[in-house]
Amino acid sequence: MELFDVYPVNDIEIVKGQGSLIWDNNGQAYLDMYGGHAVISIGHTNAHYVQRVSNQLNKIGFYSNSIKIPLQVQLAQKLGELSGRGDYQLFLCNSGAEANENALKLASFANGRKIIVSFTNAFHGRTSLAVAATDNPKIIAPVNQTNNVVFLPFGDVIALENYFAQNGKQVSSVIVEGIQGVGGIQVASNDFLQSIRNMCNAYGAYFIADSVQCGYGRTGKFYAHDYAQVDADIYTMAKGMGNGFPVAGISISPKLKPWHGMLGTTFGGNHLACAAALAVLEEMESHHLMQNASSIGNYLISELKKIPQVIDVRGRGLMIGIALPPALAHIKKDLLFKQHIFTGEAKPNVIRLLPALNLTKAHADIFLTAFSTLLNQPLK
Ligand SMILES: Cc1ncc(COP(=O)(O)O)c(C=O)c1O
Repeated sequence: MELFDVYPVNDIEIVKGQGSLIWDNNGQAYLDMYGGHAVISIGHTNAHYVQRVSNQLNKIGFYSNSIKIPLQVQLAQKLGELSGRGDYQLFLCNSGAEANENALKLASFANGRKIIVSFTNAFHGRTSLAVAATDNPKIIAPVNQTNNVVFLPFGDVIALENYFAQNGKQVSSVIVEGIQGVGGIQVASNDFLQSIRNMCNAYGAYFIADSVQCGYGRTGKFYAHDYAQVDADIYTMAKGMGNGFPVAGISISPKLKPWHGMLGTTFGGNHLACAAALAVLEEMESHHLMQNASSIGNYLISELKKIPQVIDVRGRGLMIGIALPPALAHIKKDLLFKQHIFTGEAKPNVIRLLPALNLTKAHADIFLTAFSTLLNQPLK
């Protein structure tokens, strides 16, 4: 059997990781400024994480949601503390798309409405509703097409308010990333997020904060939306939550009430997933990783802004987009193959940095030096 060939892959086989370093099968070390797509939040093979997950695996890895799983309660408590939302409720699932799918469905159950407001350049995942709310027709299959999703211009307060003035009573939910990731690291302004909150309040719609990529401490606050000092009704999270173990969740305002059978999943919230997620939160708390993301992120952003070839530097904390001119589109590949540094990308010509939240200044400096070295090489 062959693999279903959907990923353009680099010819590199990674066999080992430690902190922000990874090694290939030839012993070549790489600096991981990509965090395996914002997933590695506390570093590869983090000692506390390995121990907590291994201990749990030696006890029990999985049993279904038909029994009490106290680890879920511990996780909900810790998440409530660190996110500053102890009165919210947690539903656990397995991936970012699934988290958004459940959030959109929950909002619709709660207010009985159908219309979802999403925004240009949004990415919310690849399952049916999540992909329908994603602004990329190429990945929406005919069966996912629906008139229930409306796309408004990202950041446009007037367009949002006009839309609500005419259709507000039909809107079930508004879903928005605090910082668009796939969309090229575009930060949602405070005004825009506050206006979403106001419109949802005025018309009985629910505010869904997609925090799958920008959440979990990556920007220096637990949720990127916190910069606007608004409370969403539902926060969706995944990527960094399990440091590589597939675990996701939605944090739900007390105003939304559950009923048995409303949502469900086989794997969500299993023992092993909860142990992984708890290890991440414990490590974030004991090593002040949100503060580190903020300070190392600020340092990187201010240094990058000094580089003349860089058109724009966007983002917050350790979610950074570096916009380059088209002539420098080769830099991302050069970082990987000439400097042995993994980064992410977004169209057009944006290098995305999504490293572990415990990235050191020494590693940030290695990146900055390598990046400047490449930029100062004469163009071929
Ligand atoms: C903002 C956002 N939402 C949702 C998703 C989907 O997450 P997953 O790939 O875990 O389904 C992603 C993935 O990149 C994302 O960046």
